Amino acid sequence: MIIRQVQDTAADAEAVHEVSRAAFRALATSVGEPLHPPPPPGGGPHAVARLARTRHLARTDPEGCWLAEDGGRVVGAALSMRREGVWILALFAVEPGLQGRGVGRLLLERAAAHGRGCLRGMLCASPSPAAARRYRQAGFTLHPTMRLTGRVDRAGLLDPGDIPVHPGGAAQFHLLDSVDRRLRGAAHGPDHAFLLAHCDELLIVDSLAGSGYCYRTGGEVKLLAATSKRIAARLLREALARVPDGEEALVEFLTAEQEWAVDVGLEVGLALGTRGYLAVRGMRPPAPYVPHPGFL
Ligand SMILES: CC(C)(COP(=O)(O)OP(=O)(O)OC[C@H]1O[C@@H](n2cnc3c(N)ncnc32)[C@H](O)[C@@H]1OP(=O)(O)O)[C@@H](O)C(=O)NCCC(=O)NCCS
Repeated sequence: MIIRQVQDTAADAEAVHEVSRAAFRALATSVGEPLHPPPPPGGGPHAVARLARTRHLARTDPEGCWLAEDGGRVVGAALSMRREGVWILALFAVEPGLQGRGVGRLLLERAAAHGRGCLRGMLCASPSPAAARRYRQAGFTLHPTMRLTGRVDRAGLLDPGDIPVHPGGAAQFHLLDSVDRRLRGAAHGPDHAFLLAHCDELLIVDSLAGSGYCYRTGGEVKLLAATSKRIAARLLREALARVPDGEEALVEFLTAEQEWAVDVGLEVGLALGTRGYLAVRGMRPPAPYVPHPGFL
């Protein structure tokens, strides 16, 4: 078994994708979750974005992205990044048949070495007991999280009020980074260009009352940050109003700090459940904030 850095190649991105897909499928079965519907030919937009994300991180953080190889076959991966003093774990997976034998520990040690000197850390954790054990042993505080799912009941969308929401673009990246720094002490930097390229839309509030933004792709609202709960709730309502008819909404990794989001979800008829953890080290869960599991 060797542990080596992930290269910015299609072959490594594909290998990371395969091992992660196998690990998460096995996890879904073990915790009794429905398996995802079969992906469309070519893997669909999610697979394209995941492959591209591995290559993005292999470029921005080569020392944070590691593979385990056994006989030339990739059997595990850990992808992490450093953003202005915060270490972020974006992916952690080991082939189901090899789990529980210390491969994850080796990968996580290499990835965590990239975060040495970072006082803070964040990650979105699955319900895997093995993952929770690894993260707690690495000094993370585990905050159990809620998720909202279902069809948006448009009758529940209240009058938008007086806070205008606009579609955003690259011209607003400095604003997004400022909101990030205030909320989590670190900008997303190069990740905003990646997220913008792979989402359906970026929504922005930039008003006298405060600022905020969120990304929406289909029914998923991932990464929402705002300078007040009122603005955060306005952004989430707007994003949910824009979920295409017939698509399921998904807003996840909500700690109890994000009650403003829970209330918006309940207003529009989404179902509330629990799944996974937000794991943080050296910081509190940012609020009002919805993390992106792949970029936090
Ligand atoms: C999480 C994951 C990457 C860990 O890799 P791994 O190779 O299994 O990890 P290790 O063997 O190094 O460590 C697992 C630890 O959990 C323990 N463990 C394994 N299965 C467990 C279970 N069902 N319940 C409790 N503890 C368990 C192991 O004993 C070990 O602890 P120890 O080193 O203190 O003895 C791997 O299990 C996986 O791919 N899970 C599915 C995908 C996932 O959830 N990824 C994390 C996303 S946040």
